[in-house]
Amino acid sequence: MSVVALVPAAGRGERLGFGMPKALVPVDGVPLLTRAVRGLFASGCVHHVVIAAPPSDVDQVRTVTASLAPAGGAVHVLAGGAERTDSVRLALAHALAEIPDTRVVLVHDAARAFTPPSVVRDVVAAVESGHDAVIPVLPVADTVKQVDEVGVVVATPDRAVLRIVQTPQGFNARVLENAYRSGLSATDDAALVELLGVPVATVPGHPHAMKITTPFDLAVASAVLSGGTR
Ligand code: CTP
Ligand code: MG
Repeated sequence: MSVVALVPAAGRGERLGFGMPKALVPVDGVPLLTRAVRGLFASGCVHHVVIAAPPSDVDQVRTVTASLAPAGGAVHVLAGGAERTDSVRLALAHALAEIPDTRVVLVHDAARAFTPPSVVRDVVAAVESGHDAVIPVLPVADTVKQVDEVGVVVATPDRAVLRIVQTPQGFNARVLENAYRSGLSATDDAALVELLGVPVATVPGHPHAMKITTPFDLAVASAVLSGGTR
């Protein structure tokens, strides 16, 4: 029975502004996507990685990721879609068709390239222990305000009950398949599963699992790297 990680990596990286897909942007010479895939395999519990690549860069992504799978594992590369959810849908369809013993599916942003392998292990372990959906989360450090359409504050939610969500998000494969078949749409994969009424469990996330979106985030990632992570 396989644990399969779907890696949406087809975005253009507009906010990072490198003029190339974010997944291929190097940090210290190593593309973000390569770092993300290494982290997944380094967990020791991921067997297959299915990458949704920018349609114009499928061959390049194949080249940079070809040697990353350990013995008994595999990297699959296909063209992603117009939106992240399209990329995940395509990668999920590929996984279910090509890897019939898929039991646990992770969805992990290439942009979270520095996610510690321990977070991957914790998510997989929680799914394998019986949770149908599991997400890594962090507490909210800042006070959060709800505002109206002109920016006036209407409420101050209790931040003690709020969490920041990271990836990898982990699912029982059948549950994620049903969620994508439902025709519903949501802002992330866990939210889609929530719409089906499936409880979503949480495990602790990690600051290094931050999503690299802006040049500032990339500077933070470089600092993390110089601190000795992979
Ligand atoms: N993604 C994807 N397919 C898309 C859009 C996004 O697979 N059509 C992926 C990105 O490659 C990234 C993750 O979804 O790994 C989160 O998206 P985001 O951080 O928004 O990345 P980009 O879309 O590349 O960045 P931007 O929005 O700044 O262009
Ligand atoms: Mg985007």
